[in-house]
Amino acid sequence: MNEYLPGLEGVPATKSNISDINGERGILSYRGYSIEQLAEHSTFEETTLLLLDGVLPTSSQLANFDHQLRRNRVVQYHIRELMKTLPSTGHPMEMLQTAVASLGMFYPGNECLTGSDVCNDLGYVHSMTVKIIARMGTIVAMWEHIRNGYDPIPPREDLTYAENFLYMLTGKVPEPEMARILDVCLILHAEHTINASTFSMLVSGSTLATPNSVMASAIATLSGPLHGGANERVLEMLDEIGSPDKAEEYVERKLDNKEVIWGMGHREYKTKDPRATILQKLVKDLLESRDDEANKSFEIAMAVEKAAEQRLASKGVYANVDFYSGILYKAMGIPTDQFTAIFAISRSAGWLAHWREQLGSNRIFRPTQVYTGEPSREYVSLDKR
Ligand code: COA
Repeated sequence: MNEYLPGLEGVPATKSNISDINGERGILSYRGYSIEQLAEHSTFEETTLLLLDGVLPTSSQLANFDHQLRRNRVVQYHIRELMKTLPSTGHPMEMLQTAVASLGMFYPGNECLTGSDVCNDLGYVHSMTVKIIARMGTIVAMWEHIRNGYDPIPPREDLTYAENFLYMLTGKVPEPEMARILDVCLILHAEHTINASTFSMLVSGSTLATPNSVMASAIATLSGPLHGGANERVLEMLDEIGSPDKAEEYVERKLDNKEVIWGMGHREYKTKDPRATILQKLVKDLLESRDDEANKSFEIAMAVEKAAEQRLASKGVYANVDFYSGILYKAMGIPTDQFTAIFAISRSAGWLAHWREQLGSNRIFRPTQVYTGEPSREYVSLDKR
């Protein structure tokens, strides 16, 4: 095949049985289970194991996995020291990429990826997966304190993943409602077929790079505003608009200038992203009895969505997952620049499920290109140019 398709639109890059999107009908499923069912009944821990193993775990399998995650939350003192040397003004995604990449130096354990064969040691793959997922939340929460000049709060083993993250972030054990909202957000963001960051993960994984390096490449890819970074841009956009009555004029102006409306549009969905629908309801329920800045952002967001629909529905462009997630995190008191890092915590589950799948039938990625440069020509020495 020599046809070049920009952005590889419609080009299958792998075979996978982890998740599926029906973009016309707005359906997302993980291992055959709809995202709505998982958001209602599952937990991040259970959904992670489902993504990794392909089946819903029994209670003892889940308890065992949960125990492993809890036991691996602590990171080495050296990681904390390294994080302290980073500038407090740096973006949490850049910190996360640095810290996760450095984990590979402090916890090498890459023996089965150093030979010419693909790693067949499922025990190694599982153990690295658990360690990385367990530490992602720790690192993001630690950074909030380190960048403000404080020592981080150590993790607690008696809390769920979501509870522990919020506890480490704020110093308080969260209300059950807040912990459940975060848990649902983690489920919703955990996996999404071959998006840009997962593709990046597959490409680096296919070279048999170590899992922490592979994670670092996926984190970098997620950070861009066309991908995970859009949730921050949505909040900036809502602040810039200022009030719901200015939404329509803003949308018209942006579209007339051929600029994007953040949190809108998706390569796969031609209808509203099902995760946006779930998140919108969560925001609505949370803010029902409140009258604060987050409430104002929500009202502006709904006005933007309505105005954008009039102009963009004909192109199949609707709200995506990033449109409402930022407002939810804002309402939970989470700093805006941490939104994408929380996305990365959650997506580590999907990335590592794909890493494992890639190793199961590995072949290095090496696509071709359409050369558009000069034809073959003679070198001209410096004095003759
Ligand atoms: N605002 C305005 N117009 C948009 C748009 C948006 N957010 N998203 C897509 N469109 C328009 C494009 O301008 C294009 O119009 P045209 O056919 O008249 O040129 C059409 O819809 C198709 O979009 P395209 O850019 O080809 O889609 P893509 O699949 O290459 O890009 C995104 C997908 C996500 C990168 C794109 O929708 C976008 O930039 N969205 C904003 C960033 C964002 O929210 N990212 C998070 C994704 S989860």
